[in-house]
Amino acid sequence: MTSYPKTSALMARGSEFLGSEYAILCGAMSWVSERNLVSAISNAGGFGVIACGAMTPDLLDTEISETKKLTDKPFGVNLITMHPQLMELIDVCGKHGVGHVVLAGGIPPKDSVEAIKAHGARVLVFAPTLALAKKLLRSGADALVIEGNEAGGHIGPVATSILAQEFLPELAEDFIVFVAGGIGTGDMIAAYLEMGAAGVQLGTRFACATESIAHPDFKKAFFRAKARDAETSVQVDPRLPVIPVRALKNKGTEAFTAKQREVAQLLDEGKVDMAEAQLQIEHFWAGALRRAVIDGDVEGGSLMAGQSVSLVKEEEPVAEIIARLMEESEAALTRRNRL
Ligand SMILES: Cc1cc2nc3c(=O)[nH]c(=O)nc-3n(C[C@H](O)[C@H](O)[C@H](O)COP(=O)(O)O)c2cc1C
Repeated sequence: MTSYPKTSALMARGSEFLGSEYAILCGAMSWVSERNLVSAISNAGGFGVIACGAMTPDLLDTEISETKKLTDKPFGVNLITMHPQLMELIDVCGKHGVGHVVLAGGIPPKDSVEAIKAHGARVLVFAPTLALAKKLLRSGADALVIEGNEAGGHIGPVATSILAQEFLPELAEDFIVFVAGGIGTGDMIAAYLEMGAAGVQLGTRFACATESIAHPDFKKAFFRAKARDAETSVQVDPRLPVIPVRALKNKGTEAFTAKQREVAQLLDEGKVDMAEAQLQIEHFWAGALRRAVIDGDVEGGSLMAGQSVSLVKEEEPVAEIIARLMEESEAALTRRNRL
């Protein structure tokens, strides 16, 4: 296998933590990150993560078993903290000896972190602020993913470049921190590694890989799109806090605006409470993303994509994407060392 000494040295802590050759995670993408893409990423030396999304414990059980048939390399599972059966899902991961669980979609309940660790697995968390990141890392989380606003899917308000400057100087020496959002080339990977990141997480760059089961029309929409086409959703009603989603603009974007109005009215009429209202919004996204990824409905479905979609130009096997990222990172580090 080709070696990338400079990049590998900077990735050493992240690779050791993940048990993978390269500290490159493919972030979980609902409907996209299933057995085929996850095993392909891990087989190519990266770290694949199954997107559990709204799966039941039985479905997750099957997905993990099937992924294990396709790879003997480590991979992780991403669980959404607001899933009503979070603890059962954690037990399914424990039963299979999944080594890494990523908790996404909100502040992880303390008992969930404890339950994952009781199974002997490592816990990766997201944190929107430095104070919360410190708290989570001190109270049991094993690693942090900082994800900037350029990313695809549900996003926070701050750019990756700012998060990296705020979080890495404070945390990178003592903790494992992965940087996500807007990374499409190895040059960018090299930059975050040099700033102290233990590794990186990419989603958009891998969504249309050959091994991805995404519909050909979903992939075509990605290949055509420019960075500016990946827009954030707007919040229609201030009483209904919705987490913004970055996706390629289409009719589905407008449907989300209508959905928010509908849910806000149900709130007004006292027909649903806030938790139920937010769950309805999340179900909307899960359904809309499924329509785009699986059915190829690129007009009415949700084409979640990050701004790095402009760097995704054609379908390529995962192994080639990872090799290119590593080559680019190595070349960037070599150039800098010459100065
Ligand atoms: C189509 C799509 C679906 C996603 N679904 C999820 C998800 O279910 N859970 C999650 O934690 N992140 C999800 N993400 C975010 C990715 O895991 C990853 O962090 C993000 O894509 C990284 O930024 P990038 O898109 O700029 O590479 C999704 C992203 C995309 C593009």
